[in-house]
Amino acid sequence: MTDEPEQATPSLYQTFIRVLKENFPQQKWVYAIAITAMVVVAATTSATAWIMKAIFDVLSNAPGAWPAIVVAGAVLFIFVAKGVAGYVQQVALSRAGNRVVSDIQRKMYRKLLQQEASWFDATESSDLLVRVTQSAQSARMVIDTIVTGFVRDALTLLGLIAVMVWQHALLSAVFLVIGPLALFGVRAVLGKVRRIMQAELVSLTEIMKVIQETSGGLRVVRAFGLEPMLEGRMDRAVKDVEKRSNSIVRLEAVTAPMMDTLAGSAIATIVLVSGLSIGMGATATAGELMAFVTALLMAYEPAKRLSRMRVSLEAAFVGVKMMFDVLDRPDSLADAPDAVDLPDGKGQVALRDVRFTYDGNRDVLQGVSLVFPAGKTTALVGPSGGGKSTIMSLLLRLYDPVDGAVEFDGLDLRRIRRASLQAHMAYVGQNTFLFSNTVRENIRMGRPGASEDDIIAAARAAQAHDFITGLPQGYDTPVGENGIFLSGGQRQRLSLARAIIKDAPILLLDEATSALDNQSEMLVRDAITAATKGRTTILIAHRLSTVLTADEIVFVEGGRVVEQGPLNDLLAQDSRFAAMFRHEFPAEEPAA
Ligand SMILES: Nc1ncnc2c1ncn2[C@@H]1O[C@H](COP(=O)(O)OP(=O)(O)OP(=O)(O)O)[C@@H](O)[C@H]1O
Ligand SMILES: [Mg+2]
Repeated sequence: MTDEPEQATPSLYQTFIRVLKENFPQQKWVYAIAITAMVVVAATTSATAWIMKAIFDVLSNAPGAWPAIVVAGAVLFIFVAKGVAGYVQQVALSRAGNRVVSDIQRKMYRKLLQQEASWFDATESSDLLVRVTQSAQSARMVIDTIVTGFVRDALTLLGLIAVMVWQHALLSAVFLVIGPLALFGVRAVLGKVRRIMQAELVSLTEIMKVIQETSGGLRVVRAFGLEPMLEGRMDRAVKDVEKRSNSIVRLEAVTAPMMDTLAGSAIATIVLVSGLSIGMGATATAGELMAFVTALLMAYEPAKRLSRMRVSLEAAFVGVKMMFDVLDRPDSLADAPDAVDLPDGKGQVALRDVRFTYDGNRDVLQGVSLVFPAGKTTALVGPSGGGKSTIMSLLLRLYDPVDGAVEFDGLDLRRIRRASLQAHMAYVGQNTFLFSNTVRENIRMGRPGASEDDIIAAARAAQAHDFITGLPQGYDTPVGENGIFLSGGQRQRLSLARAIIKDAPILLLDEATSALDNQSEMLVRDAITAATKGRTTILIAHRLSTVLTADEIVFVEGGRVVEQGPLNDLLAQDSRFAAMFRHEFPAEEPAA
């Protein structure tokens, strides 16, 4: 969550108009029902005050049976109508609001899926969680507050004022002058609310982050005894949220005593004025005064809510702004207008003078030109941090090069439809990732709709079938969050099976066998060799035994291709590769 400069943000007013514009129309019928019900609530509330005069007259004058029956019937009708309308209003408003929330959450998630990898690199997942969950609620709160305020509260207030004027014009005039003065006090608190909300969301993000890191990093936490440190972090974040929530409540509540004092003075004034005026033989009847006082007291609630409306809206503003921050991002994964599907070509991949940087400062790839021949296996080797995985990320088009181009059969990746590109690549990453689902479904992710036989065949090819059948529920065993129930090597073999079942013309393997023991690795290597037949395969390995079967070796160091050639050629020279090879197998040093 970044603190953007204040002047860059659109005004509160513009933002809320936009929230309404973008969400209200879809739900207009439900809101129409809610609004109709609110009109009824406002009318019946005013009628409640108005009928006080009739009630009082019946009670004090005893005019006979019929007037009493009429008034009693009217009272019953008004209260039943008010109750029903209140119910309809609440249900309709909540339904519309819930729909708005789910629509926004869907929209935000779709937006997330359209963001480039660098944005995900820069945005913490806890931040995303808070955004998607909280800010949709803020948008809903805005609509609720505006609709309830401008329709129910405003109409109720108007109706009650009408009753007051009708019953006692002079007293009404007095209150219409005093009342609004009280609202000025509310303005003082507005500025603070937004700032506090902003800080509260930051702390909320920290809470989620601490929980995520505790769960995800449990082993490290335990091994290094980091519990007190995490507890401290959590403590600070929780305390912060608590403190800020209290501040918000205090700010929101500070308007209440102001209004209470005012209401008290108002009633005291009326009693005095009416007492005096009755004594002086004034015109107002007791029934009229009764209706007036009732209207005045009932006006208090909607007036209070209206006066606080800005405070509630300020509180929602931060969340809404965070929502628009996400929704306004361009769909950076959108295909170029002239993008094409990949033709079923040979499957040659090439980098042409590719320069790439993650942060805009340091070039991680500095002019890499490489051809991965179609149907051949190329191994990327070299020291850690040299840029091997980065090359693979560019092939997957997680990032685009700053200069130069990545090409697929001569076609720039940026001109290929993403879906088509994705369909042509299978990938096993350096860090395995499994979904919290069963073994079977994790393999099936490689090719949705794959048959049971295909899944088993892929598992066999990845040397995973035997361990899977040994699991308590076989292929139906859940793997846990990111495969936590499995060993590192088992996870790797599942990832491999997922890639094999995809049966794509290009296979990218980033340290796909690094977690396996020599025996399994040898078996998997055979499987890979079989799987790579006729495919363009690019594999990254630190273990040189893994690259022995490659047709071509590329040695990458410091973001450049340092050496390139068939295995035996490189071994025959005094190459960096040969030096690395000698280091690993000193005994196998080939005769020069
Ligand atoms: N997402 C990222 N954001 C910023 N810098 C990154 C990112 N990923 C990698 N780097 C940097 O880019 C450089 C190359 O990283 P890369 O992962 O390509 O190396 P590698 O050759 O695959 O290393 P290894 O053999 O250790 O996996 C490193 O210096 C690394 O710090
Ligand atoms: Mg790597």
